[in-house]
Amino acid sequence: MSVAFHQVLRHGMLAASGNPALAGWVRRHGTLLGARRFVAGETLDECVRVLHRLRDEGFGTTTTLLGEAVTSERTAQGVAAEYVSVLRRLANEDVGTTVALKLTHIGLDVSEGLVHETVAAVVRCAAKCGNFVRVDMEQSSKVDPTLRLFRRLRSEGLTNVGIVLQACLYRSDGDLRALLPLRPNVRLVKGAYLEPREIAFPRKRDVDRNFVQLIALALTGDGLTAVATHDERIIERTLDIVRAQGIGPDRFEFQMLFGIRPRLQRDLLQRGYRVRIAVPYGPDWYAYFMRRLAERPANAFFLWRALFQK
Ligand code: FDA
Repeated sequence: MSVAFHQVLRHGMLAASGNPALAGWVRRHGTLLGARRFVAGETLDECVRVLHRLRDEGFGTTTTLLGEAVTSERTAQGVAAEYVSVLRRLANEDVGTTVALKLTHIGLDVSEGLVHETVAAVVRCAAKCGNFVRVDMEQSSKVDPTLRLFRRLRSEGLTNVGIVLQACLYRSDGDLRALLPLRPNVRLVKGAYLEPREIAFPRKRDVDRNFVQLIALALTGDGLTAVATHDERIIERTLDIVRAQGIGPDRFEFQMLFGIRPRLQRDLLQRGYRVRIAVPYGPDWYAYFMRRLAERPANAFFLWRALFQK
């Protein structure tokens, strides 16, 4: 399949995911459609079972309570409270799991003041538990407030917080350069959202090229670089850079999503590299699941076939 056709399919999937009829149908048939492949379960108990299994296999993990686009202050406060109890539970489980969250799940769409309050509470709780919180990166309209919040938390002395930059965006090179003096814990990804060509590389090969450049740049800094991809070529290019520059294993790690390329995950582990698996859970899995389906043509075809055969 051509790259261009895949892009059209991906855009179609992501655009269609906003349709309420499709959302209702996918939610009802989630198990049949394979949502459990990407999501550890709807409850924290189910998720913790998966975290234990992955820890026993030698993986690091990070978990996320799924959800986004919350517009009520009360709901956002509830999500923050939920994250605090997740952190307390993880402290008792000894699974070495960090936490990642989306700002629109925890108050960004209400106000920047609220999201600072909720995220700071979660990050402080994580600090007390000896844990770490990653702030995911959402669509481009959220990049500035996300970077502002990250800087504010760091200026308040909170160092157990990390950020994500997306290789699809032209601006990420400048954003990374500006962050490097903070010695950030930065996760680099290709980018999972639909973005206009005015601000994002329209061609996949340009995203990939920029991804490698960002990895090389991040590795010149003193922070931790998390290379989050299932793309073997990007992984091997990262290892070339690491070897050429004599970068130690404490300065980088690979991250992958639960359920995607498990053989590659185990292979990297066996080769002696650190691999962290992002394991999401929760009843609000629809938007996450649709992004995963859109990333791969075979997934998208599977959904369309199921939809039209119903
Ligand atoms: P690419 O899409 O080229 O895939 C490489 C290969 O991996 C494919 O050929 C296929 O074999 C396999 N693969 C990839 N996706 C698959 C899928 N869904 N199903 C089956 N196979 C698949 N994005 C974002 O915008 N903000 C964020 O905060 C994050 N956070 C994040 C954390 C972690 C740990 C990861 C791994 C990824 C993210 N992402 C993200 C998502 C990221 O931007 C990107 O959309 C996906 O990782 C897919 O891109 P790849 O780099 O894997 O390459």
